Amino acid sequence: MKLKLIVCAAALTLPTFLFSATAGAAKSDSCAHCHGTDGNSTSSAYPSLAGQTREYIYRQIKAFKEGSRKNSMMSTAVVVLSDQDMQDLAEYFSGQTMVRSTAKTDPAIIEQGKRIAAEAQCVACHQPNFKGLNEFPRVSRQKYPYIVKQLKDFRDGARVSDVMGPTAQNLTDEQIEALAQYLTSL
Ligand code: HEC
Ligand code: HEC
Repeated sequence: MKLKLIVCAAALTLPTFLFSATAGAAKSDSCAHCHGTDGNSTSSAYPSLAGQTREYIYRQIKAFKEGSRKNSMMSTAVVVLSDQDMQDLAEYFSGQTMVRSTAKTDPAIIEQGKRIAAEAQCVACHQPNFKGLNEFPRVSRQKYPYIVKQLKDFRDGARVSDVMGPTAQNLTDEQIEALAQYLTSL
C-alpha cells in the first residue's frame, strides 16, 4: 500500500507536458491528412499548426467543437475529442517547428503589407515578427490563401472575434492580400 502511494506521487511529479505531447502525437493521426504529420500542412487550403501557440490551438479546437467558430471539415474532425485530447493535441502541435511557406510573393507587395501592418500596429498583439503569444496566434509563415480567407472572414463576419472584427473591418481585398503576402514571407 505504502509502495503504491510512493509510485503514484512520483508519477505526479513528472512534468505533465511530457505526457501530453506524447499522447498528442498519438492522437494527431486523424489531423495529419489535412494539417500534415508534423503540423506543416501540405495543402495551402489548410493552416499549419506547427509552432502555433498552445493556448491558441486549444481555444480554436474548442471553438470548432462548441460551434462558435464554423467550418464543416473541422467540426467533423473534432466532434469526438475530449478536453484532455484537445490539451494533448495543442501541446503536441505547438512543439513542432513551422517551416517557411513556399508561396510565390512579390517584394513590392510584401513592402506594402509591411506598411499596412505597421500602421495598424498588429504586432502590439501578435508580438514582434508575428510570432504570437498565448491567445494571440502566431501568423508568421502561415499559408497565404489561409490568411487571406481568415482576414476576409473577420471582415465579413463569417469568423467572429471582438478583436479582429474591428481590426479587419475597413481592409480592402487588396490590403488583405498585401498583408497576407507579408505575413507568409516572414
Ligand atoms: C478534412 C481536413 C481537416 C482535418 C481532418 C482536420 N482539420 Fe483542422 N482545419 C481544417 C481547415 C480547412 C481549417 C481552417 C478552417 C477555416 O477556414 O476557418 C482548420 C483549422 C484548424 C485549426 C485552427 C488553426 C488556426 O490557425 O486558427 C486548428 C487548431 C485545427 N484545425 C486543428 C485540428 C486538429 C487538432 C485536427 C485533428 C483532430 C484537425 N484540425 C483535423 C481542416 C482539417
Ligand atoms: C488587439 C489585438 C490584435 C490586433 C491589434 C490584431 N490582432 Fe490579429 N488576432 C488577435 C486575436 C486575439 C486573434 C484570434 C481571434 C480568435 O480567437 O478567433 C487574431 C487572429 C488573427 C488572424 C487569424 C490567425 C489564424 O491562425 O487563424 C490573422 C491572420 C490576424 N489576426 C492578423 C492580424 C493583422 C494582419 C493585424 C493588423 C492589421 C492584426 N491581426 C491585429 C488579436 C489582434
